[in-house]
Amino acid sequence: MSRVAYVNGQYVPHAEAAVHVEDRGYQFADGVYEVIAVTRGALVDEEPHLVRLERSLSELRIAAPMGRPALRHVMREVIRRNRVADGIIYLQMTRGVAPRDHAFPAGAETSVVMTARRTRPPNPAVIRDGVKVITIPDIRWERCDIKSVALLPNCLGKQQAREAGAYEAWQVDARDGTVTEGTSTNAWIVTRDGEVVTRRADHAILNGITRIALVDIIAGQQGLKLVERPFTVEEAKNAREAFLTSTTSFVTPIVRIDGATVGDGKPGPVTKGLREAYLAHMAEEAGTA
Ligand code: PDD
Repeated sequence: MSRVAYVNGQYVPHAEAAVHVEDRGYQFADGVYEVIAVTRGALVDEEPHLVRLERSLSELRIAAPMGRPALRHVMREVIRRNRVADGIIYLQMTRGVAPRDHAFPAGAETSVVMTARRTRPPNPAVIRDGVKVITIPDIRWERCDIKSVALLPNCLGKQQAREAGAYEAWQVDARDGTVTEGTSTNAWIVTRDGEVVTRRADHAILNGITRIALVDIIAGQQGLKLVERPFTVEEAKNAREAFLTSTTSFVTPIVRIDGATVGDGKPGPVTKGLREAYLAHMAEEAGTA
């Protein structure tokens, strides 16, 4: 099946989709993006993703290229034309094309690119056995709350994880030894007291939409207590459970951190329960619950 991309107002064959060499996204990473899950053809948590996109744009003073109804229409069209039932849609918006100059160009139009693709179901072994993470220094800037396409530290970190045979790298604030987040996921632990802990959504992390959904789920579940605070690598290694969240990983159990075994080395009951609850939330979004 031939894939289709949306580029600045046109649906074009994916293989031929291109932006100008002087697009500021290409030259300066001057742009933002979103990744939204598609389940049975429906967008998961569309509204909070659009709210975050609009916030990222406004924090960087990039003009919104179209209103929400138009954006929603194009997203559906991209999903439809690519016949995606279960997968993801990727949206990218940049400050546009202009002669290279660091300061904002006058009159450039925001560039918009969208692609969609099917994804494979998660590897059952990952869910059954859990994954490993390594820890690395967080070398990013001070506005990680903006979903910017400037992802070089994240790419370096993920590559380091891959070379270490790990699923993800947890980035650590060198000033206090606390975990900020993964390179493309948010970080969580369950303490020995049974508290679910994740960092508060400050400027040091991206406020994941999966994170937000899980905060709601936990609030609605009796017997679970959420505490939004930083935690150190040492605390995580001694935790009862650990897991990560994202649009593409959902809720994924972690069983090793830098070689230290978490809990009994198997995915724990709280993580499993939250994963099930999150999958139910996705099914609900697709209207199939
Ligand atoms: N990554 N933290 C970072 C740095 C991220 O890049 C992401 C998302 C998350 C989780 O956010 P959400 O729950 O909204 O997916 C946290 C996407 C999936 C990506 O870059 O592919």
